[in-house]
Amino acid sequence: MAAYEYETHEYDVVVVGAGGAGLRATLGMAEQGLRTACVTKVFPTRSHTVAAQGGIAASLGNMGPDSWQWHMYDTVKGSDWLGDTDAMEYLAREAPAAVYELEHYGVPFSRTEEGKIYQRPFGGHTTEFGEGPAVQRTCAAADRTGHAILHTLYGQSVKNNAEFFIEYFALDLLMSDDGVCTGVVCWKLDDGTMHVFNAKMVVLATGGYGRAYFSATSAHTCTGDGGGMVARAGLPLQDMEFVQFHPTGIYGAGCLITEGARGEGGYLTNSQGERFMERYAPNYKDLAPRDYVSRCMTMEIREGRGVGSEGDHIHLNLSHLPPEALQLRLPGISESARIFAGVDVTKEPIPVIPTVHYNMGGIPTNYWGEVLNPTAEDPTAVVPGLMAVGEAGCASVHGANRLGSNSLIDLVVFGRAAAIRAGEVVDRAASIPATNTAQVDKCFERFDSLRNATGAIPTADLRLEMQKTMQRDAAVFRTSETLSQGVTDMTAIAGKMGDLKVTDRSLVWNTDLMETLELTNLMPNALATIVGAEARKESRGAHAHEDFTNRDDENWRVHTVSRVEGNKVDLSYRPVIVDPLTNEDQGGIELKKIAPKARTF
Ligand code: FUM
Repeated sequence: MAAYEYETHEYDVVVVGAGGAGLRATLGMAEQGLRTACVTKVFPTRSHTVAAQGGIAASLGNMGPDSWQWHMYDTVKGSDWLGDTDAMEYLAREAPAAVYELEHYGVPFSRTEEGKIYQRPFGGHTTEFGEGPAVQRTCAAADRTGHAILHTLYGQSVKNNAEFFIEYFALDLLMSDDGVCTGVVCWKLDDGTMHVFNAKMVVLATGGYGRAYFSATSAHTCTGDGGGMVARAGLPLQDMEFVQFHPTGIYGAGCLITEGARGEGGYLTNSQGERFMERYAPNYKDLAPRDYVSRCMTMEIREGRGVGSEGDHIHLNLSHLPPEALQLRLPGISESARIFAGVDVTKEPIPVIPTVHYNMGGIPTNYWGEVLNPTAEDPTAVVPGLMAVGEAGCASVHGANRLGSNSLIDLVVFGRAAAIRAGEVVDRAASIPATNTAQVDKCFERFDSLRNATGAIPTADLRLEMQKTMQRDAAVFRTSETLSQGVTDMTAIAGKMGDLKVTDRSLVWNTDLMETLELTNLMPNALATIVGAEARKESRGAHAHEDFTNRDDENWRVHTVSRVEGNKVDLSYRPVIVDPLTNEDQGGIELKKIAPKARTF
């Protein structure tokens, strides 16, 4: 047996991850006096939320008429009718309060002349239930909104006595025999010590798994650690086939150029200098939703109208905008374009290409962030002691496609909701669960076997194989042939996990081992994605299937539930929640307004 000594910690709540959702949950828990620890593998303000640029959606109506019902409608339509309606109502309804809360915590939002929070247009955000013009709903701090939010929430969490365990890598959940989560085991990266956190509630806020792909806007730390831990605990993932490609990643480098660039008046052109989005989306043009714009760009490239010597990308034009507007509203992307594309945005277009950006799928939860373990008898059964928020979770508020700027609001609304719920369900008088030593031993066995892995394949090689396969076969457009090839290849790739080679056996700053552990998390996420995609015989949101080009609500308006064990994925389905929280008489949205219909722009 692998013998590792460990230190034991006891908390009411342990939050894993310190991005926007993790910090908002941590802050909310700590504000209520719950003893709260936040463990994170990177320094909190280096979490991937720091890279969020364009803004956070909320119907404040600062720049023109808006309502939470319009925001909800846009979210429902954006999700291509796969989102859970109760969660989408909760998001849109709570968004303004959550943003004002951020303002009061100290987020330095950009301002209008009157001193109100500045809001810009973003794709898919409209008025009059999709019948009116685009709305300015996205609240922005220049093009560094995530940075501003992250720093503010970290400061507030520290002020409220949340305790941070920084550069602690979460290895595995501690689950009791009767399915209750009682804690998490961590490895402290800078000194190699082991730590067991026992808690009444564990909140997974570990972000997405963009690094399952070769080219992604996501940080290299986005390795789906929560999804990996959940899969190893025998719990499911949901809707993993829906992977968002952001239309404007910098060609080659993959860095994000915010949709706010188009919100501020930028536009896309092909090799003929044509503003082609006018042809595809006559009403909303460059501000159609991301899945649609990414598909249009891909079609232009396929039909021979891409730019560059290989005709394989598109131009984003900003040079017609006044330099002072670029300086005021888009300083960050002006710098990124200069550094990563060698482009002066005041003079030249930016070369861009659809790039993996966001995972709509994740750990299934209800709109309080409680993790679900759906069964045929009870599709909304809750796992006691476990929550998931942010990109790691799947509430499901984005369904098959997320609208831009609905991610930051998801982080704070559901981070806050998880804290509210924990305040209700965590029994402060109860004792902290005892250490589950059998589970701790099992975790150390796994850790030790990876640490001493003597196989033939270096971690980086297998990771690259996975990334290239996912990039090729689970792309913007998918076919039966590419998906079936992808399933075959990914099954074989995942089957090689037992043949990994780790060369560094130390415990202190062992990045070889850390990347291997991350690969054990990426792999089940990637496998569930390709298997779920192959099984879904329709096109919906980000899942554009060329052999099944229509949405099929009769057969496929269901959530995919995937359980991954080794290189096998077991799929089942659970119903989409179609009822909103309130009806029209209660101030909610008229049900027929959100009934499924064709998604046009
Ligand atoms: O384009 C952007 O600024 C990204 C925003 C988002 O993903 O919500």
